[in-house]
Amino acid sequence: MPVSVLSVASEAVPLVKTGGLADVAGALPSAVAGHGIEMTTLLPGYPAVGKAMGKGKLVHKWDSLLGEPARLLAGKIGKHKLLVLDCPTLFAREGGPYGDVKGKDWADNWRRFAAFGRAAADIASGAVKGRKFDLVHAHDWQAAMTLAYLRFASTQPELPAVMTIHNMAFQGYYDAGVFPRLGLPQEAWSLDGVESYGGVGFLKAGMQMADVITTVSPTYAREIRQKDFGMGLEGLVSSRGDRVRGILNGIDEAVWDPGEDPDIAASYTRRTLGKRSANKRAVEKEFGLERGDGPIFTVISRLTWQKGMDVLLEVLDHLAGIGGRLALLGSGDAGIEAELHEAAARHPGRIGIRIGYDEALSHQLQAGADAILVPSRFEPCGLTQLYGLAYGCVPVVARTGGLADTVIDANPASLAAGVATGIQFDGVHYHALCAAIDRANALYYQPKQWRTLQQNGMKADFSWAASGRAYAELYRELTGKTA
Ligand code: ADP
Ligand code: GLC
Repeated sequence: MPVSVLSVASEAVPLVKTGGLADVAGALPSAVAGHGIEMTTLLPGYPAVGKAMGKGKLVHKWDSLLGEPARLLAGKIGKHKLLVLDCPTLFAREGGPYGDVKGKDWADNWRRFAAFGRAAADIASGAVKGRKFDLVHAHDWQAAMTLAYLRFASTQPELPAVMTIHNMAFQGYYDAGVFPRLGLPQEAWSLDGVESYGGVGFLKAGMQMADVITTVSPTYAREIRQKDFGMGLEGLVSSRGDRVRGILNGIDEAVWDPGEDPDIAASYTRRTLGKRSANKRAVEKEFGLERGDGPIFTVISRLTWQKGMDVLLEVLDHLAGIGGRLALLGSGDAGIEAELHEAAARHPGRIGIRIGYDEALSHQLQAGADAILVPSRFEPCGLTQLYGLAYGCVPVVARTGGLADTVIDANPASLAAGVATGIQFDGVHYHALCAAIDRANALYYQPKQWRTLQQNGMKADFSWAASGRAYAELYRELTGKTA
């Protein structure tokens, strides 16, 4: 029996993306389709979404969605069903999904994403004629209120619900003053409801009400039981026991395949790795790096504390000093951006940076750099190390979250067994990162070993096959619908 799932997300490729959530929400419908799951994705009607979708078909209207008139439009995302919440006063704004052109969060985000959740709950409860759902899958805090509205403000029997945490650092936590404006009954103001540390916790509410909470790697699912990772919600995570599970993200192999990538200078496979050198030359040119045979490290990242970018800054002189080069693509923290510019000026030809967001260039970097640095303090899953593995760009990663689960450290045992795929290090600080870079550099100069690392990574299967099956099994477990 097919299972009909409403996936509620605030971003999804190819329509709107600020990070890995979009990759995952965009890939999920295809990943589960082969297992008899019919997934419909609900997105907010940002300008980019409306533009990509075209006119869409009007399928529902709200006179007042938390006070705003709104419409629901149906369209397609690739081959799959898409619903878009068209509510211009909340979503048709210049800037990003969560903030203005300068990156400052919209002051009414609580209202924007409460309305999104309210709409999702209505849709899941059958408000739209001809569309019935068996289960709701909400992603991150922006979609989490769906579950609160389903529990407290729906007249329909509650649907089974999955809440996926892509990043515990973003919880959608607001002042208690917003509660009366959410349109929830007073009983929702409790520890079993949306109340959290005296305020309203969107993610907390979703976690409280979900039948199963998933996060995007098994290690992160364990880590968030601890204070440093749980960020205040560790008690709730622990209390949910085995209802908290880790399902690793996959990568979309149609988009990330060095054998057929329109964005790179030269295609190659595991067997024709030699052709990578044309991509290395392209990276040198693009980033103004001097030509050379030494390793090029890359970083493709949000420039934030989570990603350890402050520690990266500290090691740049060391990296250049040992003959390494760096090609960095990222955007984020203004202070980090400024210091990166300074480092590039100190090391012309050795450190090249590009501030901004450039999907095509991220492919070229994975294809042309020798190693990708991911020194995250925490990383629920992480996708750039997976793209690195697929492209023979050896990942050098902090041993945390999904990074710990996806990279096999090149220690003597794994090297002897011929299974290593990269380098892991413990603790995101100067000495640990320098030592990891030194290890990568030394291995790079042992061409046979290095090639084995690259080929092992390229052989590893991080497609959606296994994870798609795991989500499908979870949906069946919760709905009781057998295959
Ligand atoms: P997060 O979602 O925490 O930022 P992930 O590693 O899961 O981390 O996903 C990041 C995604 O965004 C990857 O697809 C990565 O390639 C992409 N990305 C990050 N920064 C940039 C950038 N400046 N230009 C292009 N792609 C980027
Ligand atoms: C978040 C996490 C990242 C994860 C992504 C997709 O942005 O920071 O680790 O890969 O979501 O699940």
